Amino acid sequence: MMIGIEKISFYIPEQYLDLAVLADRKNIDRAKFSKGIGQEKIAIPAHDEDIVTMAAEAAHPIIESCDYESIDTILFATETAIDQSKSAGIYVHRLLGLPSQCRNVELKQACYGATAALQMACGYVARKPNKKVLIIASDISRYDIDTPGEATQGAGAVAMLISTNPKIMEINSASGCYSEDIMDFWRPNYRKTPFVDGKYSALRYLHSLAHAWKDYQNNGGRDFFDFTQFCYHLPFTRMAEKAHKHLCSLNQTPLNMDQILPGMMYNRQIGNCYNASLYLSLISTLENYEGDLSDKAIGMFSYGSGAVAEFFAGVVQKGYKNHLYIKRHQGLIKNRKSLGYDEYLACWNTPEIQDGSEYVIEKNRNGKYRLSGLKDHKRQYESVA
Ligand code: HMG
Repeated sequence: MMIGIEKISFYIPEQYLDLAVLADRKNIDRAKFSKGIGQEKIAIPAHDEDIVTMAAEAAHPIIESCDYESIDTILFATETAIDQSKSAGIYVHRLLGLPSQCRNVELKQACYGATAALQMACGYVARKPNKKVLIIASDISRYDIDTPGEATQGAGAVAMLISTNPKIMEINSASGCYSEDIMDFWRPNYRKTPFVDGKYSALRYLHSLAHAWKDYQNNGGRDFFDFTQFCYHLPFTRMAEKAHKHLCSLNQTPLNMDQILPGMMYNRQIGNCYNASLYLSLISTLENYEGDLSDKAIGMFSYGSGAVAEFFAGVVQKGYKNHLYIKRHQGLIKNRKSLGYDEYLACWNTPEIQDGSEYVIEKNRNGKYRLSGLKDHKRQYESVA
């Protein structure tokens, strides 16, 4: 039985900050961001969107075009939780009109949660082959203004349908994991932005890659030379270059950028979207690789600070191009508004909901789903016809 990704789609906010604007404002050489970090733009959410509305937007095209009655599980991976108790997926479940015979749960382990969700979904579908699991990875990456992390912000959501009819990619069962208790990036409940030891985090990412790769090999994983492309968790795209160089050197082969460039193209325009980043890179690979990836293996490396890492692989299926949302995705990237620095700051300083007082949020973008306010301590979401 084959199990894997039947459909995959992303959503990003309709506005972005060009990092050239940020560089000029801070008197930093633009090349530091474009070359040193490998980012051109970062997506900035509007006041009336959050992880729920982004998730619903990402999943909408999938639900519209699939037999959604067989979805009986939603796994929602995020580290931008909006509630300490209720899963964000339940709001999405209602907004998308999914059947009530469906379980909902939220998963958290920094940027790794979506990969845990994927592995769990594959196991679940093996047990119930006539059911499908909807995975949603949705996050807003925010760092304090005037810190080195500021250029590595971003936002977005990826939705994936996991089933026994993997029209896009079969997920292989071999994988390699690595966990260690470290403080490279963390966000206590009372904080809106994380604490981060940036350079240490990048070193631990590489260290975890080496260990996860070794475990993958020990568990009967593919040989390095079997892979056509590699996708990495991308906090910023330059990280893929560092990671791939490291993996190449572990396999005594020179760095080949062609194996990772297609997977960096979308992320370079969007920034870090935590749980969604690796899967955005997968979509970027599938949609930007020049040629046919059918029957080719893609290596995937997931890293979540704190830290948990996993290396796994998938095989792209024949006809996969017929099931991608290329036009929609490229339109989302192209048709965005560029923000000036002060507009960006105004978005960053979105009034935080501190108490239960009634709060109305004006409509200020075109999406199908929006956060319209807060009433009686309850977030108010609506579908826009
Ligand atoms: P920084 O202080 O900007 O670093 O912080 P830098 O001064 O070393 O500059 C970065 C690179 O730009 C360097 O290249 C410079 O040489 C280069 P490198 O030494 O790396 O090869 N540079 C230039 N290049 C061309 N022209 C120039 C120029 N000037 C400098 N003129 C840092 C960078 C990434 C640390 C910071 O942005 C940060 O803290 N980001 C947040 C943390 C992060 O993204 N960590 C990544 C690994 S951890 C992870 O991925 C997990 C995460 O997603 C969270 C989760 O799991 O939930 C973050």
